[in-house]
Amino acid sequence: MNTSKILNIILALCLLVLSFKIALKGEETASETTSIKTKNDMKTLLDKTQIGNLNLKNRFIRASIEDRTNQGFIDKEATTELYVNLAKGGVGTILSGYTVIDEREKDMDIFAIYDDRFIDQYTELTQAVKQHGANFLMQLVQLGSNYRIKDELTHEVPGMSAVANLKTGIVPKAMTRDEIKALVDRFAQAAVRAKKSGFDGVEIHASHGYLLHQSATPYYNRRTDEYGGSRENRFRLTIEVYEAIRKAVGDEYPIWIKVHSEDDFEGGITHEDCIYLCKELDKRGIDAIEISGDFWSGRGNKAYYREIAAKIADQISAPVIVTGGNRDFDEMEKMINETNISYLGMARPLMQDPGMIGRYVRGRE
Ligand SMILES: Cc1cc2nc3c(=O)[nH]c(=O)nc-3n(C[C@H](O)[C@H](O)[C@H](O)COP(=O)(O)O)c2cc1C
Repeated sequence: MNTSKILNIILALCLLVLSFKIALKGEETASETTSIKTKNDMKTLLDKTQIGNLNLKNRFIRASIEDRTNQGFIDKEATTELYVNLAKGGVGTILSGYTVIDEREKDMDIFAIYDDRFIDQYTELTQAVKQHGANFLMQLVQLGSNYRIKDELTHEVPGMSAVANLKTGIVPKAMTRDEIKALVDRFAQAAVRAKKSGFDGVEIHASHGYLLHQSATPYYNRRTDEYGGSRENRFRLTIEVYEAIRKAVGDEYPIWIKVHSEDDFEGGITHEDCIYLCKELDKRGIDAIEISGDFWSGRGNKAYYREIAAKIADQISAPVIVTGGNRDFDEMEKMINETNISYLGMARPLMQDPGMIGRYVRGRE
């Protein structure tokens, strides 16, 4: 064997040992990655997630806050500034203020979408907001007897039964079956307009004392037909509204709902009622459920619906958002790791400080 052959064999052996070492190192690196991955299994508030085909850049949702308008017509500059500031401020997803779907309720001077003529103003608004990387969903409501009267009541107020509203004193007219059908159709048409306006989805407002919430309570709903009495009957309207919207906007378009989880009056919503509704909607393909309830009577600075929201999240596959009292980022991060709650709704904190999420994100980078 000549010298050059011997040198070649030595070189080949060296290369073999070297590649062995690299392979071993590779394994070490892989297991390191695995252990980091295990740590990363902890959920964070900044996780990028998906709900259906909607991408969310973090787990923060701006919960709805009422907007000011002139009979549904927005002040373009002020409204755009408000929502663009929220989007620039870093929140991943924004829910609009509640939006009337019935012309009779236009004097509330909040957002309105009962007619095609509103589409243009929202098209410009959604484009401006989405440029800054936030999702934007429109919240739809039928106010019913939970109505703020300006001077005097000038319209016939729809309700399930003619029972005086505990807050406003308004006695609505009990809807006929045809009027119920018309109401369901109004929700569906409004959702179609929201979709045409560029909103990323709609949220049905079934909480806070408005008509869909009322329809589910034995107190306000004294009907003896298929819309009253048993739990199944009391939730029939809300489920019909969801189904009609789904049919009108298609399977891909996000439909969320804000539900009421408890009441402080006899004959109000119970946890069992709320769990029933969430399960029924989950079966039918609702995209996300926001858990709310009475938020105005000084509930304090902690997630006061955590317990019921966690209970619901354990029983359904749709993601659960908990809203009300979310103030402390560490607490929120603990909550999403200790429970199956996925998202955090915040209203008042973002009203006061729309840039707070962005600062939190920068602090974590
Ligand atoms: C001024 C104001 C307006 C609100 N408007 C709406 C609304 O349009 N739709 C709705 O579902 N909730 C509305 N809410 C309730 C919030 O979305 C939220 O459920 C509640 O404020 C609790 O969350 P927070 O503790 O983060 O503020 C409003 C709350 C406030 C303070």
